Amino acid sequence: MDLETRPLDPIGVEIHGLSLGEGGGGPSEETLAALRRTVVDEGLALLRGQRLTPDEQVALGCRLGPLEPMDLDRDGRAPVLGILSNVGADGAILAADDPRMRLVRINERWHTDSAFREVPASFSIFTAVVVPETGGDTFFASLERAWQTLSGEDRKGLLGLNGIHDYRSAYRSEADPASVEPISSDPRVDFPVRLHPIARRHPESGRTSLYVAEHMGGVEGWPEARGRALVSRLVAVATHEGAVYRHRWRAGDVLIWDNRTMIHRAQGFDPRHARVMHHVRVAGSEPPIPASR
Ligand SMILES: [Fe+2]
Repeated sequence: MDLETRPLDPIGVEIHGLSLGEGGGGPSEETLAALRRTVVDEGLALLRGQRLTPDEQVALGCRLGPLEPMDLDRDGRAPVLGILSNVGADGAILAADDPRMRLVRINERWHTDSAFREVPASFSIFTAVVVPETGGDTFFASLERAWQTLSGEDRKGLLGLNGIHDYRSAYRSEADPASVEPISSDPRVDFPVRLHPIARRHPESGRTSLYVAEHMGGVEGWPEARGRALVSRLVAVATHEGAVYRHRWRAGDVLIWDNRTMIHRAQGFDPRHARVMHHVRVAGSEPPIPASR
């Protein structure tokens, strides 16, 4: 079956005429398979006006695969539902130095979700619950397209390289240098350093993508400065202005993207205004597969 889609500029699609909620029993198996194919092929799918409940969002995620435990910003609900919010449980806006706000700021760098895991996430599903009037947009670019724009020489040079993904150091660099907080004992950031191939093969499409992000500490076996410079160059190839889709959220939006091909970042927003987003992440099926061509 074909979904009714309209391209987003310059990457991704908007899907019309599909309700993801469970009011009518939820999407059929056939519809869900088409949705999955669309996200794999297009990188990103937007569905507006959905207003999913947390239970519906979790149920949708579960139908795409096992969900990652979401140990960030838990709010007493299903621990697989992450709540990205600048509003505390008491309804007050969080202070800028609150550890939860540091996590919000890390998301302002180009990244793919849960690269800090041995098996990083496949899909992310984000829903907008409370949206500030300005700011708080999310930017997306394709690491698959970036790979395709590289020269044959460049591609050959990247095969076999592993990137260093270091969440602790990314978090530390966001911290107040005067802070004495023992960062490594914070369970929300206590992830070991991971090595993942810089060129990866998608397990469903078979296509090759770059696998890079701004939090990376370089390339395995390379001097740090040289590795960081390569990562910066590759992130820049993927995220130049003409390659980036900018999403301006409306309450009720659902965005589903494939972390195996898409890189994204959040935009800052006026912290005096509330912003609440719900997300679930579908676990990947295996560690990133090194590309061979
Ligand atoms: Fe993210």
